[in-house]
Amino acid sequence: MLKPAKTPGDTSWFVHDRFGLFIHWGLYAQGARHEWLMHNEQIPVKEYERRYFKRFDPDLYDPNLWASAAAGAGMKYFVVTTKHHEGFCLWDSKVTDYKATNTPAGRDLLKPMVEAFRAHGLRTGFYHSLIDWHHDQFILDPHIGPYRAHADREKMNKKRSQANYAKYLNAQVTELLTDFGDVDILWCDFSYPKPDGSGKGKKDWDSENLYKTIRALQPKVILNDRLDLEKGWDVKTPEQAQPRGWVMHNGKPVVWEACQTFSGSWGYHRDEQSWRSTDQLIHTLIDCVSKGGNLLLNVGPTGRGEFDERAMDRLRGIGEWMRRHGRSIYGCTQAPDSFKTPQDCRLTYNPDTKRLYVHVLAWPYKHLHMDGFAGRVEYAQLLNDASEVGLGLDSWHANQIGADKETLTLVLPQEKPRVAVPVIELFLKK
Ligand code: GLC
Repeated sequence: MLKPAKTPGDTSWFVHDRFGLFIHWGLYAQGARHEWLMHNEQIPVKEYERRYFKRFDPDLYDPNLWASAAAGAGMKYFVVTTKHHEGFCLWDSKVTDYKATNTPAGRDLLKPMVEAFRAHGLRTGFYHSLIDWHHDQFILDPHIGPYRAHADREKMNKKRSQANYAKYLNAQVTELLTDFGDVDILWCDFSYPKPDGSGKGKKDWDSENLYKTIRALQPKVILNDRLDLEKGWDVKTPEQAQPRGWVMHNGKPVVWEACQTFSGSWGYHRDEQSWRSTDQLIHTLIDCVSKGGNLLLNVGPTGRGEFDERAMDRLRGIGEWMRRHGRSIYGCTQAPDSFKTPQDCRLTYNPDTKRLYVHVLAWPYKHLHMDGFAGRVEYAQLLNDASEVGLGLDSWHANQIGADKETLTLVLPQEKPRVAVPVIELFLKK
């Protein structure tokens, strides 16, 4: 069975809990057309402030509702954008005025969120953008940001110092890791070094130093892999694509978490029509765990501070499935190699209970043939209702369709159980 090597942070709870909520919330929620709109539409700082900073008033924001929606979906941790690339801060940072307290919201929005999620039993994660399109010391890139094509870009850069910005970054991360109790995850985003020296990476963030600050303040925090450091991170974070197997780094398995969206963008997007169905999202979660990974599923709350109905609908649907099938997700991982995945299925395995879970993505005619499983299973049941599943193919049918001594055939009910993805729980022989 694959087992990643130990890293500095504490990932023991993380690889058990498997499922978390990503929250992208900032001024861009009001633009409601992608969290990168400042870049996409090349909106200058003053104009962005005029439109959105001056009007940010999430009057319906109730973090208890958010936390209860996440807990109800079976999520065990959350990661929220304390600041995204636009530079706006949700908390009362001492080193900037560009924060929620100075908008019509008039208050720190992060503290009550952390409290609410903790009260619902979820662990706390902070996403923090390395990139900052608002800060006046941040060097303007030729390919990223609202000023990328600006005629005076180079002239503007003369008054800027990336080193000063890196100090600001360090001060903010220090606040986040000091003022909110135990932080379980720090999710820095992102580095884009280019071979010709343009772009930004560890030198521009002063990552080595930042790393020391992080570990000094919260030694156990799980750190993601986007600081452009070869060592020290705990988790790889593929986004918007499902890995084809356990994620590897230098040929070795690592702790990993896919982060995925409902509809494409991370921030609230009013007109996006490409919403994934509840079933697709459940498949995605299963797929992650079957490859030894986690899923961080994103919601972009609205400018009034709500999860919109499309998100609530998916979260409720996932929760409905998780209530009965959490056992095949929590504490589970990729099955040992000796168990071959049957057609149209995903396997997960709980190494403590030694139970194997067969997620049946397409319900077969009657029989599910498990090659190599003969003699290895003591009992089988459907997870949704603990109803027994028959083992073995009768000789009449075995003669007709061909039988293999190594194969165990599960005899399934004709009607697919009325759940998004039926799961068969296999009690293995010890
Ligand atoms: C990207 C994007 C961003 C999003 C993040 C989540 O790097 O810049 O908008 O926050 O991925 O993984």
